[in-house]
Formats: sequence, structure tokens, C-alpha cells
Amino acid sequence: MCGIVGYTGPREAYPIILKGLKRLEYRGYDSSGVALLSNNKLKVYKKKGKVAELEDSVIGLDLQGTIGIGHTRWATHGEPSDRNAHPHQSQSGELAMIHNGIIENYTQIKKELESKGYHFKSDTDTEVLLNFIEDIKINNNCALEEALRIALKRVVGAYCILLISNDDPTTIIAARKGSPLVIGIGKGEHFLASDASPIIEYTKEVVYVNDYEIAIVKPDELILKNLGNEKQTPFITKLDMELAAIEKGGYDHFMLKEIHEQPNSIFDCLRGRLLPQSGQIMMGGIENNMDAFIHANRIVIVACGTSWHAGLIAEYLIEELCRIPVEVEYASEFRYRNPVIHKGDVIIAISQSGETADTLVALESAKEKGAFIFGVVNAVGSSIARLSNAGAYTHSGPEIGVASTKAFTGQLAVLMMMALKIGFAKKTIDEKRYLQLMRDLESVPEKIKEILANTKEIERIAEKYKDASDFLFLGRGYNFPVALEGALKLKEISYIHAEGYPAAEMKHGPIALVDEKLPVVFVATKDSYYQKIVSNVQEIKARKGKVIAVATIGDDIIPGMADDVMLVPDIDEVIAPLLSVVPLQLLSYYVGLYKGLDVDKPRNLAKSVTVE
Ligand code: G6P
Repeated sequence: MCGIVGYTGPREAYPIILKGLKRLEYRGYDSSGVALLSNNKLKVYKKKGKVAELEDSVIGLDLQGTIGIGHTRWATHGEPSDRNAHPHQSQSGELAMIHNGIIENYTQIKKELESKGYHFKSDTDTEVLLNFIEDIKINNNCALEEALRIALKRVVGAYCILLISNDDPTTIIAARKGSPLVIGIGKGEHFLASDASPIIEYTKEVVYVNDYEIAIVKPDELILKNLGNEKQTPFITKLDMELAAIEKGGYDHFMLKEIHEQPNSIFDCLRGRLLPQSGQIMMGGIENNMDAFIHANRIVIVACGTSWHAGLIAEYLIEELCRIPVEVEYASEFRYRNPVIHKGDVIIAISQSGETADTLVALESAKEKGAFIFGVVNAVGSSIARLSNAGAYTHSGPEIGVASTKAFTGQLAVLMMMALKIGFAKKTIDEKRYLQLMRDLESVPEKIKEILANTKEIERIAEKYKDASDFLFLGRGYNFPVALEGALKLKEISYIHAEGYPAAEMKHGPIALVDEKLPVVFVATKDSYYQKIVSNVQEIKARKGKVIAVATIGDDIIPGMADDVMLVPDIDEVIAPLLSVVPLQLLSYYVGLYKGLDVDKPRNLAKSVTVE
């Protein structure tokens, strides 16, 4: 949540920062701003709305400066407005700061500062922290870095901040706790950002700053210190990411590009790991910790949003193939409800960004209690990846569209391989089924290509139902979490109210909503629940509901009953979610498109939720 960018070096900072903010807009886009420094003078420009509006508003203004910081905001404290946009300036006007995160005890600090005569121009916690730093600096007559260190020791909450001062024309001071910060190392220049996407075109050498570290960044020097003022050695990582991966590549939207990337992203995820010819699944993180999985009394899966839906599918998979009890927890509930965690409990954390605050904190406390944390993460080097004891990356590539698509299928592919590998080692599945499921999983990229080769029918269905005010999504077994994901995608992208439900449970409530206006999407592929779901379709038809079915190619019953059909190739039910979710992703994309909405940046959402 909130994207931050900084630059210090020989080039003009503004174009670098602006481009960076556009790349980070998926993190929040209700307002944005930049602070530039030249001739010991700070210039701060900020604007409510998307980065393009900031860009328009600064035309003709003084944008000079070879050092600067920029921010794109997802509002937490204070409504989206010019006034609440970052950067904020301190009361003296000497300091400018941007912040991603939440300062929880800001009201207390604000009161203290107000009693000393401070006045605040915004409603933000950030402005409070900034003036707190300035106040410490003045009272102790100390360096800015020292004042920051003292302030951060008082602060409760999460932050990644970048700070510049008009009496130091080349230095950015940064600090992080709980919100990500990457520093790109150039030749005589440094780039700072919430993730690597603004940095990638300038350098591939980066340092991921750790929690409780302060970075003093000058054009040709990077000093890392902990809050105890001890120097830390920066650990330089090489980025394995190409610029093309974070651009639209001819598609109108990132979401559409990412849906269409799935044959490749799943192939990349399986590559070198899933080896049906030799009957092997190569996953070092599982291999090296097989005992922990085999002897686990239970597995707890912790995640949020779409990743939580992947977790629900993993529950079905792991219980069926490995016979290990699984609980799936919303990270935000798990972290606060004092869950029972024993030493050696296995926790699987699922996260695209690897930065979701609730998931991160839930894992930190479980790890402290002795749990073994296995991360299923997309963003390489992210906080959750680093916190995990072991893990498996999904290798889905950067996902920019706010609604998760290819990261979800990457998570499923990893979780399926994990369940197969553990189940086979535990002898809870026999070799025949193990090999058959491996081959089915291997066939997924080609089968998704078949779905994507003809999206015309899905576009037509989207246009037909785009004005509906509600949707119901129903599925059973492995397709029940897919129904939840279909409903979430539609809500996110089209702002149509949608509910996902187990198809049989529908009789205990949602059926009251059914009338001739309600579209009901059935995820009704050929599986062991098929006959049952046929009956559920009839129950809806009997009440004049409109049925849109995701059905299996060759099925001659469901297509005859449904008003509209989206077909997917046949595959084992354990693997089926990887196919059945794709038409639902496309349906929500096209409904959003026909409604004229910004599908890549839906209102109020953010891709990476780094506040709780
Ligand atoms: C946000 C995103 C969702 C995502 C969820 C969890 O709500 O908009 O797409 O599923 O966070 O994020 P994570 O990065 O932990 O998977």
C-alpha cells in the first residue's frame, strides 16, 4: 500500500521519480506527490487523484533537482486530498518526508506536539511523525539521522519513510519497519523504491533493507545502520527480472496481459520441478523439510484475499492427497485471536506480494512460538519470503493488475506440486495416481491456451450481464473456492455485488435472492460432484434464475440447461481449479471493461496491503 520512490545522483530526479510512481501506482492511487531539492530549496508538488493528474498539474513549474522523493498514496489517515497527499513538509519547511505504513500512536505524539505549539496542515500520521523528528532534532541539536533514530524508538506501527532536508543537498535518509524498501545501486547514483519495478531499467543490483534499519543514501555511498547506530553490511542481490515483464506488451490492460500470460507463468512455475518422465518433483524447500510435513499433526494455512482462496483449495488437496488435517486462516483473524500454536506446527503462508501486513505479522508471532513457516510467495526477496524457514516461489513474474490472476494460478501450481510430493512420500497416494496427476498438471499450460484462444463467447456473456446488480457464484468440492474467487474478481473489477457459496449450501439462504434478474454462475465441471451440481442448477432454473455455467468440453447435460456456457477442457478434479478459474477471470475483466471502469486500478483497492 502506497508506493514510494527516491533518487539521488547526477541526473534530473523528477522524470525518474514520475516514471517510478507510474510503475508503483498499483500500490495506491488516490493522490500523489514529489519533493525535489535544488539550490538548498525544497519544492513540493502534490495532487489528489492518479499520477497522471500530478503530471498535468506541474507542467511549467520548476522541476529541477538531482535529488527527490515521490509518493503514490492509498489513504489510511485522512481522506484523499491535495492536503493529505505526500510528501509532507515539517513546520520549519526544512524537511520533506514520504511514508508508507501507519503510525499507530500518532494521536498521543500529535497532542504532545500541539501542546508545544505545532500546527498541522493535514490529517495524516505522517506529518505528525515528521514534526516529531524535527522537534527532536531542534531540542537535541543533533543530526537528522540521530533525530530519526530517537523518533523511531517511540513509534508504534509500520513504516517505510524517505526523508530529505534542504540543508543536505544529496542525502536521502530512509528507514523501514514492516513496509518494503529496495535500494538500487547505480554508478554514482542510488534509486529507492517500494519494489524493484521503478529501479529495473537503471540497475539490477539491489539491497533489500531490513526492518529496524536506517539507510543513509548519497549518490556514491550507501550506509546501513540499525536503530542502535551500528553499521550493517548491505547485502547486494541481483534482480532476476526484465523490463518487458513489467510493461503491458501490447495488451490494453495489465489484467488482460496477466490472464493471457498464464500458460507461460504456470509453465515457468512447473519447469524443472515437475518431472513426470522420471516421476520426480524437485522442490528443495519440501525435500529438506519432508519430516516436518510428514509428521505434522496439522497444517495451518495463513493468507489474505485471493491467496486465501488458493489456501482453501490447498486444504482440499492436502487433506485428500496427504491425509494431514488442514486449517485455513484469514491472517487478520489469526494474528489477533491468540491461536493455539505448538512447536513444530507447520504453517504455510501464501502471498503474492510477500508484504501483506496481516500475513507478515501473523507469521512473525507464529514463528516466535516455534512454528515452522513455509512460504508460497511470488515476490522474490520480499519480507514473507525472508521470514519463512523454507518455501517455494511461484515464479509468476511481476503482477501489476490489482486483481490477482496469474499469481493465483501460480500459487495453485506450487500447492499442487507440494501436495503430490508430500502425499507420495507419505504413501497416502499410490504411484499410479501420483503419475497421472503429474501428467495432468503438466498439461495445464496447453489447456489454458485452449481457453484463451476463444474468448469471444465470454465477452458476449459479459456484455449481456454487465448491468446486473448482483451475481451468485456456486461450486462444490474443489470448485467451491473457485466460485469464491470468481465472486471476488467480479466485485473487485466491476463493483457488482457478488457472493460465492457452496452450491448445496445455497438452499440455506441465497436461494431467497433468486429471481429472473439474478445471474448465477455455476462452476460445474465434470467431477465427482457433477450429478449433485446438476440438481443445484435445476433448483435455480426452477426459480427462473439465469444460469451461466463453466462446463467441461463434451458435457451434454449442463450446456443444455444453462442460459450461457463457458467451456473448459477436461482434467482431473484435483487440478480443475487451474482451468475453471480462467473463464471467471475473463468474465470479470470484460464486465469491468464494458462498464467503462479502470480494471487495473479498481477504486479503493491496492495491490499490496501493507497496513493492517
Ligand atoms: C490485496 C490484493 C489481492 C490479494 C490480497 C493478498 O487485497 O488486491 O489481490 O489477493 O491483497 O495479497 P498477497 O500479496 O498477500 O497475496
